[in-house]
Amino acid sequence: MHSDLDDDAGETDADLAGLVLALIGSRHSVAPKRLLSPGPDAAQLQQMVDAAACAPDHRGLRPWRLIRIADHQRGALADLFEACLRDRAADHAPPVSDTDVAKSREKAHRAPVLLLAVLKAAPDDPEVPIIERAVTLGAALMNLLLAAHGLGFGAMLTSGRAVRSARFARALALADDEQAVCFVSIGTASQARRSARGGAADYLTEWSGGPGT
Ligand SMILES: Cc1cc2nc3c(=O)[nH]c(=O)nc-3n(C[C@H](O)[C@H](O)[C@H](O)COP(=O)(O)O)c2cc1C
Repeated sequence: MHSDLDDDAGETDADLAGLVLALIGSRHSVAPKRLLSPGPDAAQLQQMVDAAACAPDHRGLRPWRLIRIADHQRGALADLFEACLRDRAADHAPPVSDTDVAKSREKAHRAPVLLLAVLKAAPDDPEVPIIERAVTLGAALMNLLLAAHGLGFGAMLTSGRAVRSARFARALALADDEQAVCFVSIGTASQARRSARGGAADYLTEWSGGPGT
C-alpha cells in the first residue's frame, strides 16, 4: 500500500541524503593559522564532541578522549613545544635558531579552540586490537570535523614530532596506555583551501578470489 506519508518519508530521506553528502563533500581542512575568532562557544563545542561520540565503537570501549588546551594554557604549551624542539636538537649541531624557536612557540597560539586527541589502549579487551580503537578515534574525529563544518566553523587535524615525544606525554599527564595522536584546531575560517582528492574508483575494488590455502 502506498500513502502520502510514504512520499513524505521518501522526500525526507532524499533531503537528508543530499544534506549529508553535501556536508561531507564540501568539508575541507583549514590550516590553524587561518582559523580566527570567534571559535565555537561552549554549547557548540559540546555539540561537536557529542557528534564525535556517535562514532562506531567495538564493544563500547570509548577508546579516546579529548583534552582542551584553554587560552590561559597556551603559554605553557608554547614552553612545551620549545622544550620538545630543544630535546630533538640536543644531539645536533648547529643548535636551534631563534627563528625555529619562535616558529615552534607560535604554533601554540593558533586557533581559538585547540583540542588534543588521545587514543586509549585501556580497557584491555583481546577482541578489540589497537587498530580498531584507532579506527574509532578516526571516525570520532571525522564526526567532529563534520559537525564543526556544519556549524559554520573551519577545523584541521595536525600532529608533528612534539606530539609523539615522551616529554609531551609526560607534560599532558597521559597514562602509560594512552597515546597523543593529533591536535584538533577549530575556529572561523579566514581563507578556504581545497586539497586534491581521489574518488570511489581510487579506493573500491571487487574481490574475485576463493577460499585460499
Ligand atoms: C591524525 C592526522 C594528523 C595530521 N597531521 C597533519 C599535520 O601535522 N600537518 C598537515 O599539514 N596535515 C596533517 N594532517 C592532514 C590534514 O589534517 C588534512 O586532512 C589534509 O591536509 C587533507 O585536507 P582535507 O581534510 O581538506 O582533505 C593530518 C591528518 C590526520 C588524520
